[in-house]
Amino acid sequence: MVQEKVLNVALLGLGTVGTGVYKVLKNQEPEMMQKIGCKVKITKILVRNLEKAAKKVDDPSVLTNDWNSIIQDSSIDMVIELMGGLSPAKEYILQALNAGKHVVTANKDLVAVAGKELLDAASENQVDFLFEAAVAGGIPIIRPLKQCLAGNHITEVMGIVNGTTNFILTKMTQEGMEFKDALDLATELGYAEADPTADIEGLDAGRKVAILASVAFNSRVVLDDVTIEGITKITATDIRYAKEMGCTIKLLGVTRSTEDGIEAYVNPMLIPSSHPLASVNDSYNAVFVHGDAVENAMFFGRGAGELPTASAVVGDVFDIARNIEYNCCTRISCTCYKQLPIKKMEDTYNSYYVRLQAEDRCGVLAELTKIFAENQVSIEEIVQKRARSNQLAEIVVITSKVREGDFTRAMDAIKKLERVKEISSLLRVYRAE
Ligand code: NAP
Ligand code: HSE
Repeated sequence: MVQEKVLNVALLGLGTVGTGVYKVLKNQEPEMMQKIGCKVKITKILVRNLEKAAKKVDDPSVLTNDWNSIIQDSSIDMVIELMGGLSPAKEYILQALNAGKHVVTANKDLVAVAGKELLDAASENQVDFLFEAAVAGGIPIIRPLKQCLAGNHITEVMGIVNGTTNFILTKMTQEGMEFKDALDLATELGYAEADPTADIEGLDAGRKVAILASVAFNSRVVLDDVTIEGITKITATDIRYAKEMGCTIKLLGVTRSTEDGIEAYVNPMLIPSSHPLASVNDSYNAVFVHGDAVENAMFFGRGAGELPTASAVVGDVFDIARNIEYNCCTRISCTCYKQLPIKKMEDTYNSYYVRLQAEDRCGVLAELTKIFAENQVSIEEIVQKRARSNQLAEIVVITSKVREGDFTRAMDAIKKLERVKEISSLLRVYRAE
């Protein structure tokens, strides 16, 4: 009888995603031989709390809290890191790669800051290091950018890559909720984490943008290169104005390859309600890609959660199993063969939405338009809205696409005007290239 081939793997972490991977691998077991030519067997699972983890597995003897029992076990071919965080995840992954073990991770925090170091270690040791689940959970995007879309020069990747904030903005848009109430609901329903800071301040999306930019433009972009702003200042009033202007407010991650370098930022933006991303609601994610051959392609689905994220992790595991079978590991390794500069935010071109409170007196609009004109900021729309009190008027301006440095100079001057009492809100407006 021919002996069944077995790929021995160790799981690091048995939380949301780890449990999902355990379930998906179990569910796939009957078809594995036909699908990938071997059986994937979880032989060890690293956890902190053995008792808690024992309730989640069929055979608690696979559980350990001793990393050495994994790294020193030469029968383990692959490590699936699902603990999260920078340390000890980075040390464990590097040790695994250096011991000739393939690694799969969903850890965007780590890949966004140390992707190059990890990919270099994989390459030196002729093993695979894959991280499809690190961006937009269950949505395939890393593999499509590296493989299916390799015949393109990608010029833009943008999208909604954080489910928690998309859920909050959806509730604010559809039900008129204020930010705080929508965040409370997200927490109650289990979308937001116990500490939602990384989500609502845009950091989680920023990490994903750094990874997307590196892969899309073949040039390393790290978290520090991404300009980040979250959604905490968005109010129901801005959502209402956006609607009146035919737009929806979304937390967008945008990265572009331009002649002067790479643009990479995350911020809440007005996007025309006719754009396909405007109707991506609740906790769903979507990524929009523009390439010179494909034109536009959109990827939509669940950006987080136990089984959707496990779907991406197991896809990586199966890919490595096939690479081993066909002796072609490291086939898709680091694709950053360029060194493009990162563009300063002040040199990017954007359209802006400004909402301000000014004295309701003759000449205020003239003062504003004069300052914008002096700074090469062209106005597309200007509306004086209902007065919030007898003396104050609310003015909303939408600019054409202008250089951010010029716009900032104009705003600095406007802030100094005696009759302008408050800049209530300032947002970018998404315009396709
Ligand atoms: P989680 O629910 O907090 O699970 C983390 C697991 O790792 C827990 O079982 C924890 O054990 C264990 N762990 C942490 N540090 C450890 C250590 N030093 N030694 C041993 N075990 C350790 O996290 P998660 O949501 O599954 O996320 C895992 C990774 O996937 C993260 O990198 C995250 O960014 C990424 N990701 C998550 C999602 C999602 O939807 N959740 C989506 C995409 C990507 P204890 O329970 O004993 O503390
Ligand atoms: N916290 C993330 C989100 C999921 O809300 O999209 C993990 O990437």
